[in-house]
Amino acid sequence: MGPTYRPKKPISDLMAKDVSFEIKDKDIAGRICRLRIGSRELETPALMPVYSPIKPVISPQELWSVFGCRALMTNSYIILKNPKLKEDILKRGIHDFLGFQGIVATDSGSYQLMEYGNVTATNKEIIDFQGDIGSDIGSFLDIPSLPDAYKMRAEEQLEITLERAKEATDARFLVNAGIQGSTHLDLRKKAATELGRDYKLCAVGGIVKLMEAYRFSDLVDIISTVKQNIPANRIVHAFGLGHPMVFSLAVAMGCDLFDSAAYALYAEGMRYLTPTGTMRLEELTYLPCSCPVCSKHGTGLKELPHEEKVRELARHNLYASMQEINTIKEAIKENTLWELVNMRCRAHPQLYKALKTLLEQEYLAEYDPITKKSAFYYQGAESEKRTEVVNVKKRLANVESNNKADIPPYGPVPWELSDIYPFNSLKDEIEYAGCKISDLCKVRAIMDYQFGIGAGELIPDKALIKKSKATRRIRGIYEGKELIAAVRASDHFIIPHEKLADRLHAKFPYPKLRIKIDDEAVEYVKDGKSVFAKFVTDIDPDLRAGDEALVVDKDDKLLRTATLVMSPKEALDFDRGMAATVR
Ligand code: GUN
Ligand code: ZN
Repeated sequence: MGPTYRPKKPISDLMAKDVSFEIKDKDIAGRICRLRIGSRELETPALMPVYSPIKPVISPQELWSVFGCRALMTNSYIILKNPKLKEDILKRGIHDFLGFQGIVATDSGSYQLMEYGNVTATNKEIIDFQGDIGSDIGSFLDIPSLPDAYKMRAEEQLEITLERAKEATDARFLVNAGIQGSTHLDLRKKAATELGRDYKLCAVGGIVKLMEAYRFSDLVDIISTVKQNIPANRIVHAFGLGHPMVFSLAVAMGCDLFDSAAYALYAEGMRYLTPTGTMRLEELTYLPCSCPVCSKHGTGLKELPHEEKVRELARHNLYASMQEINTIKEAIKENTLWELVNMRCRAHPQLYKALKTLLEQEYLAEYDPITKKSAFYYQGAESEKRTEVVNVKKRLANVESNNKADIPPYGPVPWELSDIYPFNSLKDEIEYAGCKISDLCKVRAIMDYQFGIGAGELIPDKALIKKSKATRRIRGIYEGKELIAAVRASDHFIIPHEKLADRLHAKFPYPKLRIKIDDEAVEYVKDGKSVFAKFVTDIDPDLRAGDEALVVDKDDKLLRTATLVMSPKEALDFDRGMAATVR
């Protein structure tokens, strides 16, 4: 696929609503982002616990101050249908009524539609009402088709959903656009394409029944289809996905938001949530958790009076869910999300099946960084299909060498590359005793690996390679007195300086290695300021986050080199945040 020039059009609907969404960290297609709606902020991935005003379990104040929730979800349809609540909330606004300063998302009654077959309010009424009560995030009345619905039926329902979506285009809140289509991936694709064009927040809907039936592999197919057919800067919400055992899987595919009443519903059924599955409270002899609830009661939890037991169990369930979100965020930060997903997906055969489906998703490798903060941990045969392996194998094809060691899961790896990620953690396996590779050969092989076949030739024979006295690692490459490249300490990747960048630019024709930017940003970048995604107009799709790239203007004039921090698709699609850091 060649790169395509995509002029960035601001989405009027979104600009008006003052919403921003920015990447802070990433791993696989998962990301930690800052979402701001007006003056309210939320870091994603995030779970929005469902709060029912007619059946409260944990108060909004407690959600905020004890559980640290910065967003919750409630149901506008229930409020609309309750005259007393309706009057009160219309008068006070939803935030004041709840006593909650965070983001309030409201659902539309679609869930009731799914459970009971009908609702007695129009789409328009429900949309207007959510605006009137001051929801930050609201929904239209999408129709959740059942899994395996007759295609014609699912198609009819989707048509209605898409019509209803149009009624929400000038809603006063951020629209949680429900993407439906049952298990028919072509319908999901159509829904995602249409709604992803107009809405900033794309919600994968109609998945609760799949979850309940443990059909996680179908869930992977659906979320992947949606993600591949919406711009990369769309916030992705998984509607009603609330079991912590699937959070990491969903985040790895690119989900940012979850909402769920699971913590409360499971508590009513005396079920105890853990990140590896559900347990029946009565069958527990020990509690595998040390949250404040479990620490306080121990198995005495089982002996509490019924109402208190439900409430305490709901608290434990929510602690377990929030903790899993933090575990995932830490894994993104450390670049160990695959290790976490691998572990979680061994907890149930259906999760294991979902893992295998996940590993078939080619789009994930495009999002994944080429270099990571943590060593690659081989955890069994599935690790061989991980995104890192896909990306690394593609790069290895650039490098010629007579000195290769067979290193699973990568295949033959040149000894010359033993210092760089991910081979640096396998150094002993690659280099056996007595093997000596010249520094020049190493540097040339790394150049080929990073930039393409023939890049190594751009380092002349006369180059002087300087090493650190203390570590004996390569620090810089000189021609005479001029530093032509430095070496990144963290992963041993080569950072070309001006002379070498000019040579790369001359050797490889556009668009290879390029990040093309808008005229407006040229002077900033020349000054050494970062490249903001907003100004990226084209990019080499074979680049990966973590790569060194050539920043060029519209005429392919070389401006600077930069480290790409987003994936190419993210750099094109995002209109906020830093796409590359200029040296
Ligand atoms: N809650 C659970 N699933 C859904 C869905 O598909 N749409 C909406 N609006 N709410 C939900
Ligand atoms: Zn607990």
